[in-house]
Amino acid sequence: MVKQRVLSGVQPTGNLHLGNYLGAIRNWVEGQSQYENFFCVVDLHAITAPHDASTLAENTYKIAALYLACGIDLQYSSIFVQSHISAHSELTWLLNCITPLNWLEDMIQFKEKAVKQGENVNTGLLDYPVLMAADILLYQADKVPVGEDQKQHLELTRDIANRFNYQFCREKPVLKLPEPLIRAEGARVMSLTDGTRKMSKSDPSDMSRINLLDTPDQIQNKIKRCKTDSVRGLTFDDSERPEARNLLTLYMVLSGKTKEEVAAECQDMGWGQFKPLLTETTINALKPIQEKYQAVMDDKGYLESVLRDGRQKAEAIASITLAQVKAALGYSVPL
Ligand code: TYM
Repeated sequence: MVKQRVLSGVQPTGNLHLGNYLGAIRNWVEGQSQYENFFCVVDLHAITAPHDASTLAENTYKIAALYLACGIDLQYSSIFVQSHISAHSELTWLLNCITPLNWLEDMIQFKEKAVKQGENVNTGLLDYPVLMAADILLYQADKVPVGEDQKQHLELTRDIANRFNYQFCREKPVLKLPEPLIRAEGARVMSLTDGTRKMSKSDPSDMSRINLLDTPDQIQNKIKRCKTDSVRGLTFDDSERPEARNLLTLYMVLSGKTKEEVAAECQDMGWGQFKPLLTETTINALKPIQEKYQAVMDDKGYLESVLRDGRQKAEAIASITLAQVKAALGYSVPL
């Protein structure tokens, strides 16, 4: 039986945090044997915000190494760098020309980031979701495992594919409509300093997130100081207590326990008892990832060979889709 195809990616901007891991990468790893998987480091997306050219390449390698460290298995999955395959940029241009401007202006992330970036809003930031659509549609992906915040971008990807198929190849649609894969638990990990905001790489305070490469001391310090409340007894289900829900969910997912088990274990606890428990669980969950990361980073040659293989496999598929899209749009074949 032919396996369904999965595509997903992470931007090489800053450190990966527990939100990226629990919302996305953990789910890539858990599902990978069922699918044919492509995981890219989306370095073209990374320059939609002001960036540092001297660290972009190094950060790109680090993210690829973290994919391997988190358990991406090359038997099932390919890892590649978005900018290494020019079809991503080319398809973006073609899709730009069929995407109504107001669809992009309606994107929640664009509106939020535009406020944050102030005077630094470039055209790429508005166009970000079309590049993401190109990433996905080039590989004819069936499933796209992401966190909750990407749901709207996935809907837009389907709308763009639908519009393209309807306008240019109604009889024999070229682009497959992908489906999001969003897990109930961990799809929206919240900030440690404010349980109503999502954990984010772009939050100016590093205390708001736990990074996958944080040392045990850093993890302990961040959990010790994280925002809580003054109610005794911990519960998931009180909407007035977003921090309790978030921290219990982190404990649940990182310990591998069920919601019922955690609810029973923690119902009579105070924060003073719970925080050391969460600290130890987090340190233990991240330790194997950190060890594997070091081993991969120490062998640059191996990492480069992984990215070279991934690029070859990805490019073979991307070039076919791009040719089909160009043919449907009426382009002449170069002689
Ligand atoms: P990025 O790098 O911002 O996020 C990478 C992944 O992490 C998830 N995520 C979270 N999940 C739960 N809780 C959080 N607090 C949290 N913060 C981030 C995101 O949902 C995402 O799955 N636009 C994408 C990158 C991208 C992409 C693609 C994804 C570009 N092309 C094609 C899938 C397919 C993004 O948000 O990156």
